Amino acid sequence: MANGSDAFGVYVHWPFCLSKCPYCDFNSHVRHAAIDEPRFLRAFETEIASTAERVPSRAVSSIFLGGGTPSLMQPQTVAGILDAISEHWTVLPNVEITLEANPTSVEATRFAGYRSAGVNRVSLGVQSLDDAVLKELGRMHTAQEALDAVAIARKSFDRYSFDLIYARPRQTPQQWEAELKRAIAEAAEHLSLYQLTIEPDTPFHTLHKTGKLITPDDDTARILYDLTQDICAGAGLPAYEVSNHARPGAECRHNLVYWRAHEYAGVGPGAHGRLDIDGRRRATMTEKRPESWLMRVETLGSGIVTDDPLTAEERADEFLLMGLRLAEGVDPVRYQALAGRPLDPERVAFLSAQGFVEKGGDGFLRVTPAGFPVLDAVVADLAA
Ligand SMILES: C[S@@+](CC[C@H](N)C(=O)[O-])C[C@H]1O[C@@H](n2cnc3c(N)ncnc32)[C@H](O)[C@@H]1O
Ligand code: SF4
Repeated sequence: MANGSDAFGVYVHWPFCLSKCPYCDFNSHVRHAAIDEPRFLRAFETEIASTAERVPSRAVSSIFLGGGTPSLMQPQTVAGILDAISEHWTVLPNVEITLEANPTSVEATRFAGYRSAGVNRVSLGVQSLDDAVLKELGRMHTAQEALDAVAIARKSFDRYSFDLIYARPRQTPQQWEAELKRAIAEAAEHLSLYQLTIEPDTPFHTLHKTGKLITPDDDTARILYDLTQDICAGAGLPAYEVSNHARPGAECRHNLVYWRAHEYAGVGPGAHGRLDIDGRRRATMTEKRPESWLMRVETLGSGIVTDDPLTAEERADEFLLMGLRLAEGVDPVRYQALAGRPLDPERVAFLSAQGFVEKGGDGFLRVTPAGFPVLDAVVADLAA
């Protein structure tokens, strides 16, 4: 993987879904009236322009349209957003442009339009290949519909990925092995495999708290995780990040921008950004509620509600937190430049002796396969 030290990403958030999945805590909203897409497009154009004024002269290496459900947008809305980005920044010829899509038949009919608009990669939320599970997850598609959408994605785009959720209630290693192998047969170069997380303030959280939804215990979750690593590595799709697997060279370049702590702009309701202005990194966040974001942008030119300069310590911590998720690890030299001090050699030695981290031939410090299941503790120890 090239390190892309001058990578610059643009994240665009589309905050609407047809229904709310009971496990999801993303900034997604259901509206029963039609969404005024031309009005949203004008607001996206305005926010792209005002962001570009703050960080001009960037060369965009990746764009990610995430959500919510961006595949509910009309292709001309997507085209308008992409036009606005290239009007205000230079877009590199080999730019990666990903759109997150829900795998229903209606959405798949728009894939050709997205490709014409400039999208060159889709990421589909398949979640499971079992209809009963899809129902339990509150999904609006069947496994067959999802597979049909994957087939259309394969024909429409050079690059596609899909997501599955595992460590689900009652899931056995045998079931997961069969499902994952079926998924790999449908995958091309990239798969995202997330362990089900019970997020606060979701219906799954209430069910979990009251014992009506039981997730696998730690030992079973560990067996499922190890199985995932073995099967994917054996199929040529090793993990390059905790939950992301790719053939070498086919990693999602946009997500690498986050994990390598490069610079990115966040546009749309509830989008995060990291902008380098006057030598300082700033953490930005826009208003989350779609209609309030819209009004803010229309009156003020930007939906930004948080715009905080990060201290050296905060930046260095973020660099570790994100970078240690990657199989390639982090460059200790870059850590030292950000933090103004090296990583604590005693802590590194202690974690190495435990077998949780190691130094690669390239000098990078990385988490070992034994360390990934306890990643949070490793990061907390190194950042302390
Ligand atoms: C922004 S979300 C959804 C994209 C798209 N709207 C969809 O549902 O297909 C990206 C991915 O996060 C994963 N995800 C969301 N909530 C999760 C949770 N509580 N536990 C594990 N994975 C989750 C799902 O796999 C989902 O496809
Ligand atoms: S999982 Fe996807 S479709 Fe479901 S509510 Fe979240 S963002 Fe919307």
